[in-house]
Amino acid sequence: MMAKVRTAIFISGGGSNMRSLVEASQAANFPAQIILVLSNRPDAGGLAYAAEQGIATVCLDHKTFKTRADFDSEAQAVLERFDIELVCLAGFMRLLTPDFVNAWPGRMINIHPALLPAYKGLHTHERALADKVKEHGCTVHFVTPEMDEGEIILQRTVVVLETDTPATLAARVLQQEHLAYPEALRLVSQRLQV
Ligand code: GRF
Repeated sequence: MMAKVRTAIFISGGGSNMRSLVEASQAANFPAQIILVLSNRPDAGGLAYAAEQGIATVCLDHKTFKTRADFDSEAQAVLERFDIELVCLAGFMRLLTPDFVNAWPGRMINIHPALLPAYKGLHTHERALADKVKEHGCTVHFVTPEMDEGEIILQRTVVVLETDTPATLAARVLQQEHLAYPEALRLVSQRLQV
């Protein structure tokens, strides 16, 4: 059995995507092991869940760092301390500096609640509804210094309903995120294992 890829998950909030990754990783044949959950917010609900699962947690409150670079260099030191090989951003609501991102080529991935390259940035569901698109969804992609620009790994789509509101559309996309992200982590981890 190949060694599992040592993975860290970055969160800022409830961490529903983190939960789906943790659950998927508990399968014996899953190629990644979740070693660490790191949050930039002390009140992130996902920290308690990770701790209950026996996963190491670190909180780097971004408000206590003078600059983004200071936050990122502390995050990098934590990743090295835990001997991390792959980083998953999951509901992580901060932009990382180019120096930090460029230290993880092909080893940092993110989930975005839209079908990139459409709807980069925030408020993706409101914008999709305003444009009356018929299809929407989520994208798992490699992280590069430019926001929401990296190579696409996997996407899942939903049909937009006449009755959709941002909340109902977001909820349906989130269900697909919870399927897309574990599958993307499996694919990327298998490639890193060879
Ligand atoms: C989700 O919509 C995700 O696409 C975005 O952050 C939201 C919350 O994610 N990145 P989670 O429940 O904290 O994983």
